[in-house]
Amino acid sequence: MNRIFSGVQPTGNLHLGNYLGAIRNWVRLQDQFDCIFCIVDLHAITVWQEPAELRKSTREVAAAYMAAGIDGRKHIIFNQSQVPGHSQLAWIFNCVARLGWLNRMTQFKEKSGNARENASAGLYVYPNLMAADILLYKATHVPVGEDQKQHVELARDIAQKFNNDFGVQLFPLPEPMIQGPATRVMSLRDGTKKMSKSDPSDMSRINMTDDAELVAQKIRKAKTDPHPLPGPEALGANGQVKDELFAARPEAFNLLGIYAALSDRPLASVLAEFEGKAFSAFKQALTDLAVATLGRIGAEMKRLLAEPSEIDAVLRQGAERARALSAPILKEVEDVVGF
Ligand code: ADP
Ligand code: NA
Repeated sequence: MNRIFSGVQPTGNLHLGNYLGAIRNWVRLQDQFDCIFCIVDLHAITVWQEPAELRKSTREVAAAYMAAGIDGRKHIIFNQSQVPGHSQLAWIFNCVARLGWLNRMTQFKEKSGNARENASAGLYVYPNLMAADILLYKATHVPVGEDQKQHVELARDIAQKFNNDFGVQLFPLPEPMIQGPATRVMSLRDGTKKMSKSDPSDMSRINMTDDAELVAQKIRKAKTDPHPLPGPEALGANGQVKDELFAARPEAFNLLGIYAALSDRPLASVLAEFEGKAFSAFKQALTDLAVATLGRIGAEMKRLLAEPSEIDAVLRQGAERARALSAPILKEVEDVVGF
């Protein structure tokens, strides 16, 4: 059976990258898969979170899932801390994963920066917890943005080593699903950095709850370059922007990619439409499109958050179902380990 697991951290500022790179794809997968969508609060505390903010952000992520169209009755929506099996399996995986594997993880290097001695131990073993998230349900597919590919590959390595060490075929090897034209949405202020919740500049990202005026302002101020917009000859045989062209104009291609994703059109057709045009005209079209798409979702998020009993009920039931689903799998693991 094919089962999906994926999650978002409740660390505030849900943005267009989270939507296009993750949540929107999940909405489309829910008809074909049995899905578990988590709000990964255990991951969030690998860097300091104000408790009240964490609680608020947890509801916000749930609201985003629901407002984007995930069916919380058919599928499971819950927050990670409510299912103790995540922490229990993560400990076992701490003892399976090798230090050398964790040392290769680029996210730890990026997030810890030059203050590595002062990073939490949790941030370092974050990928082991992520492997536990996925494998606690024997999930087979993990839809994520490009930035999480390395962590899903580590989860495969952990599953394989566990199976080999104990001579069992307990865990499936989960596959990353990196889909669509917006697997890596870049910052509006710097096309070489990914759009991120933790970027200190709010102008760098479009948040899912930004109103029309703010979206317009952010797109108007988005960094561009002095040249007219490129045409379809910028694409290589694989349909992707040629690497050297992307590197020369990352901001332009990022905005065009966002337009293609939001309009559900191939990039080639978007490039053909705007070829030779000025950024001002394109930015107006992008603003209209972003407001039309995100406006409805943002409004629904605000409605859900205003009276959060519906969110809380979905989270409560989701956690119950997640506990029931994971308990026999954790038992199976513990038997194999010798507990
Ligand atoms: P962030 O990196 O903004 O803190 P998370 O780590 O919670 O977000 O990631 C949640 C999901 O959103 C993951 O599947 C991740 O790959 C995806 N994602 C995050 N940022 C981007 C981005 N800029 N472009 C595409 N997908 C992204
Ligand atoms: Na991320």
